[in-house]
Amino acid sequence: MRNPSNKFLLLGMALAIALGPLLLQMDSAKAAGKSNWRIGRVYNRLICNNCHRQDGGKVISPINRTIADWKAYFASDVHKTAGKAKPSVRYYTSREYRESIKHKSKAAAKFLKFPDDVMTAHVIEFYIHGAKDSDTPARCQ
Ligand code: HEC
Repeated sequence: MRNPSNKFLLLGMALAIALGPLLLQMDSAKAAGKSNWRIGRVYNRLICNNCHRQDGGKVISPINRTIADWKAYFASDVHKTAGKAKPSVRYYTSREYRESIKHKSKAAAKFLKFPDDVMTAHVIEFYIHGAKDSDTPARCQ
């Protein structure tokens, strides 16, 4: 170990090895377990269904489908294949979308703080929590 840069390299590697798993754990803790159906419910009511209600449209309720169907729906990320609505349901939970409507939606402005994945997880949690075959089926108005 004559060369000091070697020493730093080793130190850096040791740190990376020690910290790597910790950072990974924190990440997955954030991604899992933290989703909150109550936040999803508010988002669904004020943003998703606010649009579905327009032009005499029908609101979308968790009770419309089973837990498995909702999981498949969100995993496929197909929002609606025809018409002028965007084809990706994740687009409607994205910051990009919230940003685009924040001038007319206080809710969208308020929810801007959530990263895309977190916001999507809250909404999915709401649909699963209120699914047809859940313990708490939920119909929206
Ligand atoms: C800009 C308007 C708009 C927004 C915002 C929007 N949707 Fe939609 N959505 C539509 C339209 C239009 C349809 C088609 C309605 C129909 O076929 O009756 C639709 C249909 C759906 C359907 C039914 C699709 C099917 O094949 O049966 C689901 C589920 C859905 N949206 C979920 C969501 C969720 C969840 C959000 C919010 C994260 C959302 N939508 C946000 C416009 C929107």
